[in-house]
Amino acid sequence: MNLIDKLNSALHSANIKNTQELHKVIRSLNISLDEVSPFIKQPSELEYGRNVIFSNDYAEVIIVYLPSFAKTFIHDHGSSAGSLFIIQGKLLNILYDKTDEGIQFSKTESYEENDGFLVQGDTIHMMYNPTLSPVISFHVYTPPLQNSTSYPSN
Ligand SMILES: [Fe+2]
Repeated sequence: MNLIDKLNSALHSANIKNTQELHKVIRSLNISLDEVSPFIKQPSELEYGRNVIFSNDYAEVIIVYLPSFAKTFIHDHGSSAGSLFIIQGKLLNILYDKTDEGIQFSKTESYEENDGFLVQGDTIHMMYNPTLSPVISFHVYTPPLQNSTSYPSN
């Protein structure tokens, strides 16, 4: 089965009760670099490549390509929760808190190939590739992203 067929049969709300379960379902698909390679998008306007490869009523799947030293915006996920894993490379997940004074740095987590983590709608973070090699990550959001916010970083 190709990647899109796998996602199409796995990603339905009837099969999945919560984000932890979504995470397990995605990990059980054993998605490989070979399967994802045709969908990798090089950066154009942004520092990173972002390709929405699948979407239905329940979920949206995005492949992110972060070149060496690239970062995302600081952002939340609106009313979506997400399950992410690293297909290739190492990245820093930099977390922020919303305070009365605005967005404040909270902590940094480090993830490498095959590590996964969850984000909630109100998780405010950015991802940064501090290495000399590209990072490829796999993101599933439920429901599909619609009202996430990016925060100015200066
Ligand atoms: Fe995010």
